[in-house]
Amino acid sequence: MKILAIETSCDDTGIAFLECSGGLKKPRFKILKSIVSSQVKVHQPYHGVVPNLAKREHIKNLPRILKKLIVNSKKLNVGVIAVTVGPGLEPALWTGINFAEELAKKLNKPLIGINHLEGHIYSNLLPSKNSKHEARNSKQFLNSKFKIQNGFGFRYSDLEFPAIVLLVSGGHTILLKMDSLTKWTKLGETLDDAAGEAFDKVARMLGLKYPGGPEISKLALKGNPKAVAFPRPMLNKPNYDFSFSGLKTSVLYYLRDHSEKLKVKSFKLGVNVAASFQQAVVDVLVGKTMRAAREYEAKSILLCGGVAANKSLRNALRVNSEKLGVNFFVPDFEFNTDNATMIAAAAYINILAKKEKLPIEARGDLSI
Ligand code: KG4
Ligand code: ZN
Repeated sequence: MKILAIETSCDDTGIAFLECSGGLKKPRFKILKSIVSSQVKVHQPYHGVVPNLAKREHIKNLPRILKKLIVNSKKLNVGVIAVTVGPGLEPALWTGINFAEELAKKLNKPLIGINHLEGHIYSNLLPSKNSKHEARNSKQFLNSKFKIQNGFGFRYSDLEFPAIVLLVSGGHTILLKMDSLTKWTKLGETLDDAAGEAFDKVARMLGLKYPGGPEISKLALKGNPKAVAFPRPMLNKPNYDFSFSGLKTSVLYYLRDHSEKLKVKSFKLGVNVAASFQQAVVDVLVGKTMRAAREYEAKSILLCGGVAANKSLRNALRVNSEKLGVNFFVPDFEFNTDNATMIAAAAYINILAKKEKLPIEARGDLSI
């Protein structure tokens, strides 16, 4: 099944064309084309995404990307068109939806609406270009019964269940228990800021540019993660919810109280705050994920969403998964932040599972 997918939920314009096969038992995804156009430069002066600017850029980018995608392909031979319908910024979502509707009409192909969060979850099924992928290199993985399938650009789709999924992005922080590829229960989520949002806000306090996650993680490499004892919010609460707003405020107060003494935005202050803040977030995310893995006797742990690009988080979850004897899955870096490839993967699973169709309309607050 050849799926053309469109993603415009936030500030990345993505179109991907995938050949999907293998069924629900062994889904395989061959990425024929995939282009993501980032709008970071447009939003940077505003320290965040401006919905109407995102809409303007998507309208400009979508036809350009599609044209680029079509060049050099004799015939795309599209079977199904998939588009993200939510959650996200509604003006941005509508541009993708309108574009997809027009294309579906022109090509006379069915159109399917996809939940962006499901896209992040299924990004773990996408092929890995990196043979030195963390999971593949882990002792646990090499000793496990999973076989690395070569030749189709296919990674390892036969995950063992139950699996615990940590979905961490700019808009969401969710912990799920997955009983099969298509069945899951939400264990908990953030009560206020998402993990990525906290990274972005703390980055702004430190005078770093948007998006803040990659900037903080770069700076943190030079700092001491034990320099400042920031709180680990809700780590010891007997539930699976998160809260990052108090941690963000602690950073604000710390900077206010120490900037004078250590000179405003001094290098040492910045790197130590970045490293200590990142460590606090990682401790909470890993602590709760591992507790869920133990409680539900998980056989796999999956990490996904933009914050999954954080090396410190990836490493901590990998090491802890190995200790527990659980396989750890994380997509290649290019599939962590928003892209259309994951939307095509989600569409394939949704079609096979005959899931109830989502209305083709933008739903900013769509949940999972
Ligand atoms: O999944 P995503 O691209 O968009 C949403 O669905 O929200 O996630 C974007 C978020 C941003 O908040 C960004 O700062 C964060 O992911 N992010 C990171 C890193 N790379 C991106 N956070 C921490 N460390 C990173 N290396
Ligand atoms: Zn996302």
